[in-house]
Amino acid sequence: MKKRIAIFASGSGSNAQKIMEHFKYDGQAEVALILSNNPDAYVLQRADNFEVPTHVFDRHALYQTDEIVNLLAKLQIDLVVLAGFLWLVPQNLLDKYPNKIINIHPALLPAYGGKGMYGDRVHQAVLHAGEEESGITIHFVNEQFDEGEIIYQARFRIEPNDGLEVIKFKGQQLEHLHYPKVIENLLKRM
Ligand code: GAR
Repeated sequence: MKKRIAIFASGSGSNAQKIMEHFKYDGQAEVALILSNNPDAYVLQRADNFEVPTHVFDRHALYQTDEIVNLLAKLQIDLVVLAGFLWLVPQNLLDKYPNKIINIHPALLPAYGGKGMYGDRVHQAVLHAGEEESGITIHFVNEQFDEGEIIYQARFRIEPNDGLEVIKFKGQQLEHLHYPKVIENLLKRM
């Protein structure tokens, strides 16, 4: 049986898109569900385009009930992938999926991570600090923001004239290139 992936995303979902593309004709794994806390997230449209089922939930459902863990169990999900999901993962989910929940972060953790560090804010902080390089981090998820064990990092140079849009683009290119492959490799070991 194919390994089954669930993706949590709060926004555009360009990473979710790349992951769905990567596994669309894969014999080993498939994206079985996209979940979002945001009913207006573009990622839901992307999921529809791939005919991947979606589920929208609110804070109460995630933090006060077993709705999400029960859904993941029902759909026999093997790996949970966060792709631009901005809420902390609750303990009931961490307990059900030990070392089976991963996240992508648009910087070289442990720098530029933690609560409130997402999207453009991360790149702004990197720029303000005058860094000469940045990158992406894929890591296991634990009960703290951006603190789980690092699985993979990739780097890019920041040139003197690079602004926000440029480093965002460079980071996104790396995310899109590596996240699907890292997921594929993890699934092979599961
Ligand atoms: C990605 O760049 C991801 O690294 C970042 O959100 C973006 C989502 O983009 N995640 C974080 O900042 C988590 N702290 P997408 O919706 O186009 O995939």
